[in-house]
Order: sequence, then structure tokens, then C-alpha cells
Amino acid sequence: MTEYIHVGPEDRAEPRSHVIKLHDEAGFEGMRKAGRLAAEILDELTKHVVPGVTTQELDDIVYRMTVDAGGVPATLGYRGYTKSCCTSINHVVCHGIPGEKALKDGDIVNIDVTPLLDGWHGDTSRMFFVGDVPIKAKKLVDVTYECLMLGLEQAKPGNTIGDIAHAIQTHAEKHRYGVVRDFCGHGLGRLFHDSPEVVHAGRAGSGPELRPGMFFTVEPMINIGRADCKLLDDGWTAVTRDRSLSAQFEHSIGINETGHEIFTKSPRGLDRPPY
Ligand code: MF3
Ligand code: CO
Ligand code: CO
Repeated sequence: MTEYIHVGPEDRAEPRSHVIKLHDEAGFEGMRKAGRLAAEILDELTKHVVPGVTTQELDDIVYRMTVDAGGVPATLGYRGYTKSCCTSINHVVCHGIPGEKALKDGDIVNIDVTPLLDGWHGDTSRMFFVGDVPIKAKKLVDVTYECLMLGLEQAKPGNTIGDIAHAIQTHAEKHRYGVVRDFCGHGLGRLFHDSPEVVHAGRAGSGPELRPGMFFTVEPMINIGRADCKLLDDGWTAVTRDRSLSAQFEHSIGINETGHEIFTKSPRGLDRPPY
């Protein structure tokens, strides 16, 4: 049985217990601010993602914008991670580490940011095209964005996590793409990673029921080839086993009485490329 708990401003329920938190209006307000900052950072990056820029330069922009807004990058020091964002290029599925590597014409890259602002986490990622991108890569990116939004259409009270997962899986597999199983979306709020685990493939009607006040991410990773991943020796970078291209989009949302609110929507309408 899934357990739920109403949390007020304090929200000090035990981290990573199976209990799902139901937040109040103050929580929604906090998440709107953190989510907006996260989206504004990705908006700003659209003009910096060009051939020749290094992922470290992009990380520096994320750090500067976050701190200038009064936040801190939640990834900094998270389980030993030392950067302000993740930059996952081409066959990197997620958690690519920024560094001195320059982006090149034709790359696709996911940038994932999580500012912690006034105690709330805004977690979002988008794909970016670097210069001219092959049609096959563009199609993967388009379908992955559609997967996220079709999943979100299912995010309403009375539905379950499985309804979101099933919508994503159905659309991806219609295009013969693989849905990554090794990484999931997650509850968030005052904690970066909390219950529930949000799978991106599964049976309709399975898993925890969605209730007003739940906050979580949906962040499908979709591969042109097989779903299987492997972890590189740095302990973070996850890549496709068959080296096929991978794409991901992520939003942070809150379930309300009628459906959901997306906390991380782009204020400038730059939710998907081309920008
Ligand atoms: N932002 C990622 C997520 O969507 C988590 C990154 S953790 C890091 O959950 F340490 F790799 F940065
Ligand atoms: Co996330
Ligand atoms: Co993220």
C-alpha cells in the first residue's frame, strides 16, 4: 500500500522513505520560483550552445546565474559530484560531467540543471542542437519531447505513475526506440530526490495513485537503439551500450485538483529545439 503524508512548511519527513509527501500552497509557491529560475537558466543557455563552446563554459554560466539569483546548484557536492549541471552529449544517456570538451557541429546535447532556491529544488533538462544536426537525431529529439508531454497529459489525480509510464513507452516504441529503465524520475521539493520513483515504462494503472500536492519529475531517456546502458569509469556518465544516440527532456510538476502545474516551463517558449 502506498502511504501519503500532508506536509506543511517544515517538511521534515524522513528522506527516501516510501511515504509520498502531499505539499500545500506554500510548497507550490516555492516550487514556482525554483522551477522558473531553472527554466530561465536553460533559456539563457540557448544562445551559448554553439560549436566550439566547452561544457565547462556552460557549467560556469549555470553556476553564475544560480548564485546571482540567490540559489545554489543542488548538484554541487551531491554524492561527490562537483559540477553545477549535467551535459550529456550524443550517446551519453545522462549525468555527463562538464569539462574541457568542446561541442561540435552536429552534436545533440542534454543540459540538466537543478537550482536549489529558498529551500526548493527546480529540476529540468532540455535537448539542444549544436549547429546542423542530422535528421535522425532531430527526429529522436522530437519524439522524446512528445514522450514527455504525452506522459504529462496523464498526470492528474486518480491516474497512477503507470499511466504516465505507459503513455511514454507506447509512443517511444511506436518509433522503435528504447526506453531507458536504469534511471527514473523522482519526487522532489525540499529534497532533491524523494519518493515516488517515476518509471518511464510500465503498465497503465500500475504504481502509486497521483494525488493533489504530489511534486515529482518526469524525465524520459529515449535511445534510438536498445534501452541498455552502461556506466563509465568516472562513476557518473551513463552511455548507451550499443552507442546509439540518446535524448532526454525533464520537467518538475505538481499535481493539483484538476491536473498538474509544470513548474519548469520556459517563460520564453523555448521548451524544445530549434531555439
Ligand atoms: N538533475 C538530475 C536529475 O534529473 C540529477 C543529477 S545528479 C548529479 O535527477 F549529481 F549527477 F548531478
Ligand atoms: Co530529475
Ligand atoms: Co535533472
